[in-house]
Amino acid sequence: MLFQIKQLLLHYREIHTETLVSSSHLRRWKEVNKLFPCETSDVLHCESVDECLQPFRLSVSTLQSVSTRLKKDMIRGLGKHTHHRAPVKMLPTFVRATPDGTEKGDFLALDLGGTNFRVLHVRILEDEQRVVKMDSQICAIPQEIMLGHGEKLFDHIAACLAEFLDSHELKGQTLPLGFTFSFPCEQLDIDKSVLIRWTKGFNCSGVEGEDVVRLLREAIHRRGDYDIGSVAMVNDTVGTMMSCGYRDQSCEIGMIIGTGTNACYMEEMRNVKRVEGEDGRMCINTEWGGFGDDGSLRDIQTDFDLVVDKTSLNPGIHTYEKMISGMYLGEIARLVLVKLTEDKLLFDGQVSDALQTPGRFETRFISEIEDTGLENTQRILTELDLNWSLGDVRLVWLVCDTISTRSAQLCAAALATIANRIRNNRGLDHLKTTVGVDGTVFKKHPNFSQQLQATVRLLAPRCDITFLVSEDGSGKGAAMVTAVAQRLALQPVVFEKLLLEAWGPFDLLVALW
Ligand code: GLC
Repeated sequence: MLFQIKQLLLHYREIHTETLVSSSHLRRWKEVNKLFPCETSDVLHCESVDECLQPFRLSVSTLQSVSTRLKKDMIRGLGKHTHHRAPVKMLPTFVRATPDGTEKGDFLALDLGGTNFRVLHVRILEDEQRVVKMDSQICAIPQEIMLGHGEKLFDHIAACLAEFLDSHELKGQTLPLGFTFSFPCEQLDIDKSVLIRWTKGFNCSGVEGEDVVRLLREAIHRRGDYDIGSVAMVNDTVGTMMSCGYRDQSCEIGMIIGTGTNACYMEEMRNVKRVEGEDGRMCINTEWGGFGDDGSLRDIQTDFDLVVDKTSLNPGIHTYEKMISGMYLGEIARLVLVKLTEDKLLFDGQVSDALQTPGRFETRFISEIEDTGLENTQRILTELDLNWSLGDVRLVWLVCDTISTRSAQLCAAALATIANRIRNNRGLDHLKTTVGVDGTVFKKHPNFSQQLQATVRLLAPRCDITFLVSEDGSGKGAAMVTAVAQRLALQPVVFEKLLLEAWGPFDLLVALW
């Protein structure tokens, strides 16, 4: 038996030296072995288990190749004539730089992008250079609204906002509003943003191809009991970059790994072919979740990924996101667990109804299980009506670890592509930069961030990246974008030009809309 445990460990080590693993990983695997002593029977199944999990394990050269493909797709997305067919949309945001620390005032922020909708009252304190969340409220978005008519969705948003304004006695105040709308939008102006398509579980009719700000204003007018001031639209990645940019002015990448995944970064204007002008930079919302929608990642998609895509609300759309983000990781894990059980490698071959139910194995279970909390794992498996042994518990850990590791590595490949691009753009031998990050997968998973950082270091060895975890980034960031837009609206363009000339476009950390 001891020999078999040793074999399994060696095997695991082998797999991961061949692929990629941080030392913390092996340490954690050892911890798991200590917690869940091995049973002879499951060690014997090692090869069959491995057959099932192997397609999730990516070698360094595969990740490099993924990065090369993304690099090409980013160029296609930026191009005037290639954009319309590009899977990675590379959307101009018209944010030309990040905050300069002089923004101030009170703002409302709306944040729509996951299963919840949030309303916030945010104050930007210039003297203390701080963005403070005064109050906030979460409103759930019921499934029937997520899938119903757009008018109902915006009525729901307007009603939540009314309730918030009422309870915080803000109804008379007409505050400027930052609207974080975390879906791919073609931004035409600061307050004009057309939804390209829904992602992440939303599929409301009558919104794609429409200006989202107009739909919001119309819903508020339908109520007629309050009004809003100027509106600034922003993607959550941009909000995250902007809110982190207030704290660390070298923050020029914003990344989300939550329900969905995406990143934005500061691109040279000369490369943004769809927008007039050659000087300075502009923040680009990459919408990297769409990478692979043209079939370019078919070689790394597993059978489980194909099922997840096929059974999703939007088959063929956001392929990369479906391999990485919180909306899908739990479902991938569930499908793998079902397969292993059907192959009699888990739970004595008994699949429970719960395990067979799509969506029942939540992504947060992956984080809880990998936290090596024996009790957590037992509780989760018991809740799923599974008859588990200690060997099962360990194998479930291995499944979760394999899936979350791939997610972190794919995300790292995409982030490395951006960092390498920024370095090349600027002709630098070495790039030092900061990424503002948000999202439950990044924040809650015990090992995700470490795994991601280790892989980025390998794939972008000449980039020194600091990760700044954003607190309430999309809410505060939306307020920040609104604040900057408002301040600039009061300044003559000539003044901006003078500042740009005096400080250089990259030090003048200001959003020009
Ligand atoms: C989805 C959306 C994108 C958003 C991301 C993270 O990929 O399309 O706009 O930034 O989720 O929330």
